[in-house]
Amino acid sequence: MKTVTVIGCTGALPPESAGVLAGATLVVGAARYLSMVDSAASSIDGRAERLILGDVSAALARLAAHDGPAVVLASGDPGFFGIVRALRRTGIDFAVLPAPSSVATAFARLGLPWDDALVVSAHGRALAPAVNACRAYPKVAVLTGPGAGPAELGTALRDLPRRLVVAERLGTPDERLTETTPAHAAEARWTDPNVVLVLGNAQPDGARWVAGAPPGPTGWALPDAAFAHRMITRAEVRALALARLGPRLGDLVWDVGAGSGSVAVECARFGAAVVAVERDPAACATIRTNAARYRVELAVVEDGAPQCLAELPDPDAVFVGGGGVGVLTACTARQPARIEDASQSPALRRTRLAASAAAPSREPCRR
Ligand SMILES: C[S@@+](CC[C@H](N)C(=O)[O-])C[C@H]1O[C@@H](n2cnc3c(N)ncnc32)[C@H](O)[C@@H]1O
Repeated sequence: MKTVTVIGCTGALPPESAGVLAGATLVVGAARYLSMVDSAASSIDGRAERLILGDVSAALARLAAHDGPAVVLASGDPGFFGIVRALRRTGIDFAVLPAPSSVATAFARLGLPWDDALVVSAHGRALAPAVNACRAYPKVAVLTGPGAGPAELGTALRDLPRRLVVAERLGTPDERLTETTPAHAAEARWTDPNVVLVLGNAQPDGARWVAGAPPGPTGWALPDAAFAHRMITRAEVRALALARLGPRLGDLVWDVGAGSGSVAVECARFGAAVVAVERDPAACATIRTNAARYRVELAVVEDGAPQCLAELPDPDAVFVGGGGVGVLTACTARQPARIEDASQSPALRRTRLAASAAAPSREPCRR
């Protein structure tokens, strides 16, 4: 007989797991869960084999070969960033006894709703997309992992107006919730496992019909008149640039020589984190006005490129609105996946010329 039960634990074993554990002849789980099972020794057969969950494929192979009732102990809701996906791939038959996710528990401890929160995972993955989501959106839960914990998040978000709530060892006697600044989180020591809530000053407003990421904008390449501007990348050129830059949640976009910030703002409306680089203080004020108008958060770097680019985190996409060959060379050196230079790209130039011929404008036009 082969029956696998996946038991979710948020710190403690759920009460309904006792019967399943008592009959198990194989118990697989992280060391902390196995020691929990052993300290509740009365409920488990002493002869049951224990397997520490390290290499997931090895554990799955062992489960597939096991003849008898088996238990997998997993954290929180095993169907949420958990082992259920991998188990399904093996074809093993299993049942799930879920516990509340660590994310649900962390928000519950603060008395906050979380249907309007993004949940991102840096567990066993690159940290940058999670950090970019935290830069772009004001309510994000981060599932952490080795090398991608509260300290690393704090370091990456150090200069941003964010509060971090670090929720350690939820559901255990050592549970601790700490509200702190990115700078403090970067210096402090934290215990595993933990989940980090990254909160901005302005919280998402109102009830939603969809959880997680908000739906994208209803339109883009907004009319030039929709932006405060002195110089602007015309709507037709912006449309093509946006299509090629493909700004998305988890990306970081640089808009270098940002002018009015119309490209930067539109990239942010797609959910990307954006740095607008502009050396003219008056233009920087206009960028901030446009960002506020569309309720998006941008980092505005009031400085000259290419010198200031060295300090910035690596971009996924770059729009070069101004700055010339020196700026293009510096941007290319950072190896973004997508780069568009308004003055060099033949397609953008053709579009600009066609747009000017169709509707000549007296306004100064950003390339
Ligand atoms: C692979 S994910 C699994 C998420 C899990 N399925 C859930 O619903 O919470 C592992 C991450 O969950 C978080 N986590 C799991 N258990 C936790 C706990 N008791 N307290 C705080 N965070 C926890 C940590 O961020 C950990 O790195």
